[in-house]
Amino acid sequence: MKTHVIVQDLSKLTTFADYKELADKIPADFDIALLLCNAGVSQFGGFMQAYEKTGDEDQINVNSLHPVYLNKALLPRMLQRSQKSGIINVSSVAHLTPVPGLALYDASKVFINYFTQAVAFELKADGTNIDMMEYSPSLVYTKLSLLRGGFFAISAEEAACQSLDDLGNTTYTNGPLKHAVRAWMMRTMIYYFQASIFKSQHKANKDFFTFQ
Ligand SMILES: NC(=O)c1ccc[n+]([C@@H]2O[C@H](COP(=O)([O-])OP(=O)(O)OC[C@H]3O[C@@H](n4cnc5c(N)ncnc54)[C@H](OP(=O)(O)O)[C@@H]3O)[C@@H](O)[C@H]2O)c1
Repeated sequence: MKTHVIVQDLSKLTTFADYKELADKIPADFDIALLLCNAGVSQFGGFMQAYEKTGDEDQINVNSLHPVYLNKALLPRMLQRSQKSGIINVSSVAHLTPVPGLALYDASKVFINYFTQAVAFELKADGTNIDMMEYSPSLVYTKLSLLRGGFFAISAEEAACQSLDDLGNTTYTNGPLKHAVRAWMMRTMIYYFQASIFKSQHKANKDFFTFQ
């Protein structure tokens, strides 16, 4: 397998021209069969407490804008391939319900959900050779989640294997059964318990920032 590495701080790229320039650095004979838009950042904290920090733009640029422009910059090349190609945009079950303390993160993932589903439909309806899929995991042990345990958490390897298995069969997946169950719970039960979850989450945020 050939590898071509480009190191880039995606929070600094804010226009399509930036991404076009990045895409143009990839040699013309380099075959792009799979695009995985995985980069993401999450800043926890009540909107007004976190307002003073610099993370707002990062969350919007990295989580939402980068998949849009990277998809747009690389799609023309991928459309020229005669073999099947795949695009995976990583969202999160966070798109299923708003959570106090994660307002921007949740909103950025709703964006990916709508964006990916609409473009996946367009690519299919136009009869292209591209399978586009949104991967919407629940908790994964990574430096973003800082998790070390929990019934619903899975390893990054499991997340990667399951999402790749689903590519070509669906335009949306939560990955393994555990995460599909978790997503189902969030979709259904949350409407009954949303008010009380919001109240306790909001209080927890306030306590956290007072303690800091
Ligand atoms: N972990 C979870 O529980 C969970 C749940 C649902 C969805 N997700 C989503 O899964 C995706 C992967 O996250 P993860 O959990 O694997 O977290 P992670 O270990 O922190 O990985 C995030 C990746 O994004 C890259 N990144 C962050 N900011 C960047 C920037 N400004 N420019 C370039 N690259 C940047 C990081 O690069 P560096 O390594 O160089 O920092 C890292 O490779 C994200 O989209 C996240 O929202 C995660």
